[in-house]
Amino acid sequence: MDSPATTPFSTLIRTASHEQHTEAENSSFMSDMLGGRLAVSAYRRYTEQLWFVYRALEAAAPALRDDPVAGPFIRPELARTAQLERDLAHLGGASWRDALAPLPATAAYAARIEECARTWPAGYVAHHYTRYLGDLSGGQIIRGTAEKTWGFARKGDGVRFYVFEEIPNPAAFKREYRALLDRLPLDDLEKQQVVTECKRAFALNTAVFRELSEEFPLSA
Ligand code: HEM
Repeated sequence: MDSPATTPFSTLIRTASHEQHTEAENSSFMSDMLGGRLAVSAYRRYTEQLWFVYRALEAAAPALRDDPVAGPFIRPELARTAQLERDLAHLGGASWRDALAPLPATAAYAARIEECARTWPAGYVAHHYTRYLGDLSGGQIIRGTAEKTWGFARKGDGVRFYVFEEIPNPAAFKREYRALLDRLPLDDLEKQQVVTECKRAFALNTAVFRELSEEFPLSA
């Protein structure tokens, strides 16, 4: 087995978070959503939670652009807030902002992102990785299901969050992203702390799913 010093960091972080990934994927909210068992109101509420998360990630971006650790990850083609706002306007109408409220788990998640952005750029990278690399991967499966279940136009309003117009080749983009992870200028201790923060990021996502499934239990 390779030591952490020789294993590429991108491999380390993926392997270390594998269990949390499986847990998030198999959460009842995700299973119900991918199984086509949820009403569009649940999808709307979920999309609202994403808005709080991406607002936290992306409001911090300008201040981190020149940071030696987080700066290389700040890529305008990843930004999702505008797409989420279009989806929410489609789902909730012009007054979509009026009903907007974060679940307690979402507020805690956004607060942790903001804290990392302010005080620990490498921790911010852990959150960045957990969301954006996931969106470029499994996010595409969620889009397909959402289009089928709720009748959104393919890659249209309602699912624009999942469409990265400016990333025509996600596989190549993910390879470059992993190369950035591998070049992170961090010592082994801080790399380990980033892995721990990544697991925390997954746990924060799972907590949001848990609260969503409490709000939208299946009647069956
Ligand atoms: C049911 C929901 C999900 C499905 C079906 C799914 C599926 C996938 C798949 C197939 C990959 C591998 C893509 C590849 O090897 O290129 C992947 C990667 C990833 N997913 Fe998910 N995922 C789901 C939920 C999540 C959630 C909730 C998160 C975190 C918020 C997440 C974060 C990630 C990350 C960070 C990666 C990249 C791993 C790496 O290559 O380093 N996923 N997902």
